[in-house]
Amino acid sequence: SAAEKGGYDSFMEKEINEQPKAVEETLLGRTDAEGRLALDELRIDPEELKNTSKIIVLACGTAAYAGQVAKYAIEHWTRIPVEVELAHEFRYRDPIIDETTLVVSISQSGETMDTLMAVRYAKEQGARTLAICNTNGSTIPRESDAVLYLHAGPEIAVASTKAFLAMVTASYLLGLYLGQLRGQLFTGQIKDILADLHSIPSKIQSILDNADQIKDLARRMADTPSVLFLGRHVGFPVAMEGALKLKELAYIHAEGFAAGELKHGPIALIEEGQPVFVVVPSPHGRHSLHSKVVSNIQEVRARGAKTITVAEDGDDAVREFSETVFHVPETQPLLMPLLTTVPLQIFACALAAEKGYDVDQPRNLAKSVTVE
Ligand code: G6P
Repeated sequence: SAAEKGGYDSFMEKEINEQPKAVEETLLGRTDAEGRLALDELRIDPEELKNTSKIIVLACGTAAYAGQVAKYAIEHWTRIPVEVELAHEFRYRDPIIDETTLVVSISQSGETMDTLMAVRYAKEQGARTLAICNTNGSTIPRESDAVLYLHAGPEIAVASTKAFLAMVTASYLLGLYLGQLRGQLFTGQIKDILADLHSIPSKIQSILDNADQIKDLARRMADTPSVLFLGRHVGFPVAMEGALKLKELAYIHAEGFAAGELKHGPIALIEEGQPVFVVVPSPHGRHSLHSKVVSNIQEVRARGAKTITVAEDGDDAVREFSETVFHVPETQPLLMPLLTTVPLQIFACALAAEKGYDVDQPRNLAKSVTVE
């Protein structure tokens, strides 16, 4: 009913708008009096966690893209190697696992059969298992050694939005916690990153408050047959998530590519009028990723692409080469997915609604897939 949807047209829209709250709830109560991270729900002995030699993240769908974002942050903060794999692929490749392997599953429902079977397999092989999950008491956390609950509140729409941001947030917490345990991060560094995380909800809110620009573009693009998404570093999984949302909701052919891969293939797809979304890295990041991605925007634009960029406030370099720029507030480069994902969700939701589709119940999809 309309009341259940809190005045929004769909649960998806409601859940997109609940994201500031969701991220806040995921962050709530995770530190002790000294400002050090304390993840009380983790039931694994800290000594054991400290000795983790490798992390394998397992998930499906949107949760797997959250896992890909997590890899960048966890490796950077902990120096523990992180593999990310689709749960249904994992078991069948004879993965290398022992007691020092930490298998992190990510699942909104905690009931996805592919993910559950992969967790069971990892346990049988001797791994420690930790579940990042939104549903209290669900099967995956019950069968895991440890759990980090999202506390994002129930998610009704089939396409995941607030749970995705909460999963990314929880993965950052896990990375920071492991970095703390291993002495890899100083308390001051952790406090700085946590302060930036705590500033994310109001930044998401400012994106939501300026959603009309995104919705207008979506309405004008309702007849588009194909959309490409480019991203680099943490923007790469964001690009894939943006593409997934369009496939799921609007039934539009959409692909996300690593921007650096453009010249190795995808650029052949560019023809006059092809819409290309580009998730632009922070101009303040290390390396020269920003200028490399700006070059990619120029390359596709020169071949006729209609370029739509998601860029940090104050990033003036992209303006000249973008038909439309969606600005997001500044944050540290690793945290950007918590912001850059939001315009892509709003875009897919508005475009699907414009086409008259049921955004909460897309055809052929289920909220949680409990068969293999
Ligand atoms: C289904 C849903 C997706 C979701 C995936 C994983 O395919 O349609 O939206 O991302 O399952 O779900 P989980 O509950 O494990 O996060």
